[in-house]
Amino acid sequence: MVVTIHQLRKWKQQGRPISVLTTWDYAFATILDQAGIDVLLVGDSLAMVALGYTTTLSLTLDEMLYHAQAVVRGANQALVVCDLPFLSYQESPQQALRSAGTLLQSAGVAAVKVEGGYPDMVATVNYLVVRGIPVMGHVGLTPQSVHQHGGYHRQGTSDAEAERILQEAIALEQAGAFAIVLEHIPPTLASKITQTLAIPTIGIGAGGDCDGQVLVTADLLGLSDWQPPFAQPYTNLRQSITAAVQHFCEDVRDHTFPQ
Ligand code: KIV
Repeated sequence: MVVTIHQLRKWKQQGRPISVLTTWDYAFATILDQAGIDVLLVGDSLAMVALGYTTTLSLTLDEMLYHAQAVVRGANQALVVCDLPFLSYQESPQQALRSAGTLLQSAGVAAVKVEGGYPDMVATVNYLVVRGIPVMGHVGLTPQSVHQHGGYHRQGTSDAEAERILQEAIALEQAGAFAIVLEHIPPTLASKITQTLAIPTIGIGAGGDCDGQVLVTADLLGLSDWQPPFAQPYTNLRQSITAAVQHFCEDVRDHTFPQ
């Protein structure tokens, strides 16, 4: 089944949880897509897990476009959503439209994701949506604001902060966002937002009551040497790959390969 933004809304109504994983290249996109993932997020975390940058801030729109094109080539069923990189959309709604348009036209992604729920960003979301571009919101811990957050800490821990995040989520829904990522916030807050909104919430480090869950694929597969506290590795590919590579090196050195 080809997944659409309308299907995500239906799944929320039916209580059918939505699975989301990040992707950055053709190989992973084909595997995740064929394994039945609902949404492939070309997340800007690829800056760190695939390109070796220390934060997501360094990623450019051109780099994102290159990765999004590869992912779209590998996706047949999943909805492909692409992050707008830092400073490719914050300046003005018009800048956001140009950047999002590039990703939809030149890569073929179905939707974009933007971080933040402050009034100017809500206006930008509405500007994109009325022009036909589906937008996923993202509140709570927003990694593009890591320096403002003072690190990758849990957000919404005080009553005032929690209320602000709830209001941001409501404003993003009213602006036309089709779904919203809730990152690293208390599960009780995520649960309240999920019950308040008609659009699906996709949690990461936000408890089990969200309408869907997203993980960075490198964390799921145990590929990275560092993992956030809320990540759950389902396997340890770093170990398996290291063992396979060491085995290959030994075989080459002692003439066991090729046989
Ligand atoms: O870039 C990313 O990986 C993300 C997820 C953490 C939601 O935005």
